[in-house]
Amino acid sequence: MDIDKCQIINLPRIADARGDLSFIEERKHVPFDIKRVYYISNVPNGSTRGGHANKDTEQMIIALNGRFRVRLRETNTEKTFVLDRSDRGLYIPQGIWHRIEDFSQGSIMLALVSSFYDEKDYIRDQACAHTENKE
Ligand code: TYD
Repeated sequence: MDIDKCQIINLPRIADARGDLSFIEERKHVPFDIKRVYYISNVPNGSTRGGHANKDTEQMIIALNGRFRVRLRETNTEKTFVLDRSDRGLYIPQGIWHRIEDFSQGSIMLALVSSFYDEKDYIRDQACAHTENKE
């Protein structure tokens, strides 16, 4: 199943007295070419983001600051990851329904994406995304 490809990728981290530095190179630390970057911040308490699958888009999600939970689903299989480190990315391949929730105050989510933004790439209906609604 594609959901088995959802996994944490450890990123380089160069830490010294001045702070921590991480970097990401396409096809080296992410398994796709990076076409787009977006980030989410200022998330009010209790808000969720995502809640869809993408037909033809791979992503890597990183908690640049703070902490949040990523819920993934493919047909009847569900997985949950908590992201809380800026040197760890969660790889999400095509077709996996995902929702990001439980953002801590001040958290920042960075997404590296394999495609340009296209609303037609979104599958917002969980049934069409071959997922089961357990909410
Ligand atoms: P939305 O897809 O609802 O965000 P998320 O699923 O991450 O919670 O996007 C919110 C708005 O931003 C919507 O009008 C589409 C727009 N948008 C872009 O224009 N480009 C992008 O790369 C993204 C992710 C969203």
